[in-house]
Amino acid sequence: MKDLRNGLVEFVTHGTEKCHVLVVGDVMLDQYYYGEVTRISPEAPVPITRVVKTKETLGGAANVAHNLALLGCQTDVAACIGADHHGGRLRALFDKRGIAIHGLVVTGAPTTTKLRVIGGHQQMMRLDFEETEPVVGEDEERVFMVAQASIAEGAGALVLSDYGKGIVTPQLCAQLIEAAHRRGIPVVVDPKGGDWEKYRGADYITPNLKELNTVQVAPVKNVDEDVERAARYAMNRFGIHAMVATRSECGLSLVTETTAVHIPTKAQEVFDVSGAGDTVIAAFALALAGGIAPERGAYLANLAASVVVAKVGTYAVSKEELLAALEREGKDES
Ligand SMILES: Nc1ncnc2c1ncn2[C@@H]1O[C@H](COP(=O)(O)OP(=O)(O)OP(=O)(O)O)[C@@H](O)[C@H]1O
Ligand SMILES: [Mg+2]
Repeated sequence: MKDLRNGLVEFVTHGTEKCHVLVVGDVMLDQYYYGEVTRISPEAPVPITRVVKTKETLGGAANVAHNLALLGCQTDVAACIGADHHGGRLRALFDKRGIAIHGLVVTGAPTTTKLRVIGGHQQMMRLDFEETEPVVGEDEERVFMVAQASIAEGAGALVLSDYGKGIVTPQLCAQLIEAAHRRGIPVVVDPKGGDWEKYRGADYITPNLKELNTVQVAPVKNVDEDVERAARYAMNRFGIHAMVATRSECGLSLVTETTAVHIPTKAQEVFDVSGAGDTVIAAFALALAGGIAPERGAYLANLAASVVVAKVGTYAVSKEELLAALEREGKDES
């Protein structure tokens, strides 16, 4: 593992600012309303929650962009939002993080938003605003145009973050994979669902174990040999060059046509794994954009995930936290 660390402190300290990554996918707004439950409503037998605090964060593909930006990377997004209040909030959050917003295409659908109401310590309700119809026609074309512009401007890697909300269509995937490869840049996909046909030609795919299972004929256990075999089967079946399979408490595996590297988790404490997959793909794509070897990128991604699983709620890792984790690892091994 010591070799995998080589050069990473230098890269995270000085190298990430020179990197440029494009994220295309289903961006979402995460909203949290925290309150205290005081009584039952006279209107209906439901608790009344007096809101005392609110929070808004970048979710889905937007969380991938958030991780990239916090790590110092020049980050572009190409995605759809609605002509609504939530779209404005999302735009403001991107802007605050220095993420380029000219790639946000406004469509007739609502901005995908998840609003949670938390009374005391208990989540009481979640309201989802979404329309998951595939983005087609003129909207799809506009997304492709903004993404293509970012590739032409020198993005060093393309992330396709599919949350199944409609933007990652077969046609857009095919066009973007082709455009990226014409420029010689890698495409990294976080898949959704069981049909990976649309990701054909991608360089890397980053399923979790459950997702990897959905494209197999027999169940996959969370052991090295099984994961490796399942990865190769899926790669062959869908024409994808390599895989970073995320394996929860077992860390992750990088499987290529000829090699497999299994990297155990570094997490000391685990509070909340939500968003860990977004951190993995962000850190991995960042490393590729920086010319770091994939094994080292996978090591960095796994380490970045160990930071976010120790935090409550969806959390994006910062440069300082990742550096601290790298230094801890260095001490453990010396
Ligand atoms: N219980 C755990 N203990 C230690 N590390 C973990 C744990 N769960 C997740 N991780 C770390 O986070 C990475 C991604 O986790 P996981 O395989 O659960 O992905 P995921 O299900 O896509 O995550 P997400 O909830 O973001 O969709 C793992 O590769 C590992 O590094
Ligand atoms: Mg995931």
